[in-house]
Amino acid sequence: MSLLEVENLRVHFHDAAPDRFAVDGVSFSMEEGDILGLVGESGTGKTVTSMCIGGLLPRWKADTQGSIRLDGTEIFDCSQKELNEILGKELTVVFQEPMTSFNPVYRIGRQIGESLYVHRKDLSQSQRNELILDAMRRAGLYEAEEISRRYPHELSGGMLQRAMIAAAIVTNPKLLIADEITTALDVTMQARIIDQLKRLNRESGMSILFISHDMHVVNRLCRQVIVMQRGRIVESGLTKEIFANPQHEYTKRLIAAIPSRYSGR
Ligand SMILES: Nc1ncnc2c1ncn2[C@@H]1O[C@H](COP(=O)(O)OP(=O)(O)OP(=O)(O)O)[C@@H](O)[C@H]1O
Ligand SMILES: [Mg+2]
Repeated sequence: MSLLEVENLRVHFHDAAPDRFAVDGVSFSMEEGDILGLVGESGTGKTVTSMCIGGLLPRWKADTQGSIRLDGTEIFDCSQKELNEILGKELTVVFQEPMTSFNPVYRIGRQIGESLYVHRKDLSQSQRNELILDAMRRAGLYEAEEISRRYPHELSGGMLQRAMIAAAIVTNPKLLIADEITTALDVTMQARIIDQLKRLNRESGMSILFISHDMHVVNRLCRQVIVMQRGRIVESGLTKEIFANPQHEYTKRLIAAIPSRYSGR
């Protein structure tokens, strides 16, 4: 059994034209320990796909068809209560805007530990603190104790992004979905986050679904990649093979869009 199996996923927003599917028949699977890249231009359905996997797309907004199984559990059959059990524990999703994800009035450490208060009620306060500091260090915030006492506005953009990763890994989920988390960062910070994700994967065996429109970053991180265009998968396989020999015009364009300072051309 695969860790994640997405089968013929289709999403139609109620306010879209009848024949316009935001996700239009997407199928793929991930094994435990995989790092899979999902790339494609803006509006291709990457975020909508990740929201479906996390059970985060409200039914009043869109109709969904197909199947998403996480560790054998059908996400579309889950009640809200069951989803709450899974989200933050088995699976966490990190989106691209760290500033809006933290509440400005609480210290960062407490917010990183939020899902522990939900999912690990068995722990004492000091056990929770240990896990929070450990997650922060694993996410690359090495001065964990000092930083945990700061408020969100006292952290740089790169630190906030790491704090989001810390919050996402504090419960040791099996699958981390990272949606454009390096997009707003400068090149140096991007590279550090990528290294950190690689290390997390290597040391904790955490599987990562890495969503990006940046082929360069995906090439550095992901062994396998899926290329989406307008709600559909147009190409998928080993990243290095697709890089060396892209089949689809759209993939060629995505690779050509990499600034030359990366590709060495
Ligand atoms: N809340 C919504 N209501 C209606 N349509 C939506 C909504 N959210 C997304 N869509 C539509 O679904 C399609 C896919 O959007 P999605 O956000 O998944 O794209 P994306 O690949 O993540 O793009 P980006 O790279 O810009 O993040 C788009 O055409 C968008 O207009
Ligand atoms: Mg998106």
